This record gives sequence, structure tokens and C-alpha cells, in this order.
Amino acid sequence: MGEILGVGTTHWPGMNFPDESKSWPLMRSLSHDHRVPEEMKNPTNWPEPMRVEFGEDEGVTSHKEHRRRLAEAFRKVRAEIDAFNPDFILMFGDDQYENFREDLIPAFALLAYDEFECKPWAQARHKGKPNFWGEPEDHVIPIQGRPHIARRLAKDLIEEGFDMAYGYKPLHSGPEVLGHAFLNTWMFLDYDREGIDYPLIPLAVNCYGSSVIRNRGGMDVDPNLSVDPPSPTPKRCFELGQAIARVLKRMPERSVIMGSSSWSHGFLTERNHFLWPDHEADRAAFEQLRDNRQIEWKNMSLTQIEEAGQQELLNWVCLAGAMHELGQKTEVIDYIETWVFNSEKCMAIFKP
Ligand SMILES: [Fe+2]
Repeated sequence: MGEILGVGTTHWPGMNFPDESKSWPLMRSLSHDHRVPEEMKNPTNWPEPMRVEFGEDEGVTSHKEHRRRLAEAFRKVRAEIDAFNPDFILMFGDDQYENFREDLIPAFALLAYDEFECKPWAQARHKGKPNFWGEPEDHVIPIQGRPHIARRLAKDLIEEGFDMAYGYKPLHSGPEVLGHAFLNTWMFLDYDREGIDYPLIPLAVNCYGSSVIRNRGGMDVDPNLSVDPPSPTPKRCFELGQAIARVLKRMPERSVIMGSSSWSHGFLTERNHFLWPDHEADRAAFEQLRDNRQIEWKNMSLTQIEEAGQQELLNWVCLAGAMHELGQKTEVIDYIETWVFNSEKCMAIFKP
């Protein structure tokens, strides 16, 4: 019987760059997001706590503290994973118009590659920008895959009633090879750059659904494109997590099941002028998680998720389904609310 450790994290891209580069989406929203009303681009019209967090330096000082808490939480998560010593890590992550584009958007897809030779800084959107670790543009993050286990997982899931898509090589992800959800998480698990040896099985979740192509997975909205079909429902994500837990439990290997994403995203939250996240919706989700009531997430509607900018929470819903199935309880490592840094971040583990 395979023992399983559950882990929930963020993949906040702001950790990748020096604080002084102000890489948070808010800066882009203020300079060129046409959806943001003009008057809301002026900080004097923001809620008081947002102005305080933005401070005199557009968030640089506040981000140092944001980073400190996240780095500490990632170190704790890493220590738990090392103590558990898994045979592989299965990770749920969103694909924001990275590997999957117009030619194919699967609801869920297992990436059954042999290995991932990821070059995060050679990716077009990062080229020429300094990164936090001072790594060169051609720096490689080598990650082993476990294709034979991924194939077995796909087979067992199909037999459980989930017609799982899979791939043996990348489509559109470029030099990164893996989308940011997986690669950022991996880099933050190795924040101190000591190396990390566990094999990875990424499972891509189409979290962005109705805006995955129209928004190109972010805030780059093309008004000429129609709305895309929806993401899988929270119920389906929860049930996938449950099925994965059953399948992994039957395997002899020890595994980590990880869900990686921040929660409500400011740039997806229309009711907050696309500037700050939906604190109330995230707080409600946090209380459900903390109190081990996350089965209630199964009943969230997609409209509710989209209105709260919580599209990426679907990665955590998959994780929650697995932990519910296993009866593993939530241990919160940290929960960080923010107005300026786009999204709330939760870090938690679920011990066997
Ligand atoms: Fe993401």
C-alpha cells in the first residue's frame, strides 16, 4: 500500500525576480490593462490597506516580507518531503496557454515524459531580465520524469472512469519545457539551490477554462475572440483527486500529491477592478480547508469560481479530493493575504 503525503503550495512568479524589478502583475495592470477603470489606476482611490502595502516604493519593501514568509514556508515543505522521501511527486498545475494552445486544450493531461531539461530564463518572456538567483540565460534545471508510472496512472484512471489524456513530449512550452505552475514550484522547493532529485509527474489542469485562449492564460484579453468552453467543474476536479488517491494507494511506491497555485487572482477579479484578489472568497475557502471541510469545495459553481478570480484554486480542489479520500488532515504552514501581490497564498501539508 503506497503511503502518500499531500502538499499544497503557490507558484507565485514574483519569487523569481529581484524585488526591485517590481515584477508583480499590478504594475502591468496599472500601465496597460484597458479593463481597469482610469480612476482606479490612481492609488488615492484604493482601499487604505492596499495603499499601505504599496508604500512609497510601489511594493518593493512589502515584497521582501512577502518573499521571506514564502521562502520559509517552502523550506518547511521541502523538509517534510525530504523526511518522507517519496519515489515521485505528482503535481497538479494550471497550463496558462503554455504547453497547450489553440490546437489542443485537454481538461486534464498527464505529462509522461522521460525527463524535463528546463531552461526557465531562456523563455521569451524572461529573456534579458535578471532572475533572483543570478542564473545565466542557458541555465538548465534538470528534472527526471517517471513515464512508466504516469502510463500506469493513466491506465488505472481510465479504468476508474477518468478518460485521462497524456503526452510523451512537449507541444508549445518552449525552452521552459514545463509550464510556470510546475517549474516555479520546483524552483521554490529548491529555493536554496541545493539540488532536488525526486522524479516529477506533472498533471496539467485546464483551470482557466473560458478564458484560456481568449486571455492567453493571463490578462492579455483579446476582445475579438469568443469565450472558450469552461474548465472542468470543481466536482470533477475533486473526484479526480479522489480517484488518484485510490490508484496511488494501490501502488507500492511512496508518493507526494501536490497542488500548486495561488488562490484568487487580482487580474481575474472584475469586482475588484482587476487589481486585487477576492479576500472574502479566499477567506471562506481557507476556513473550509483549515477545518477539514474542503469537501464543500466540490459544490462550488464555476460561475462562483470565475467571479472570485479563483480559477487556479482548481489545482487545490484536485488535491483536496485526494486528501478527503485518504482522510488526511490539513496542517496549515502559512496563509498570506495581500492587496498588491496579485493573489492570496496558502501553504499546507497533509501527513499520512
Ligand atoms: Fe498559474
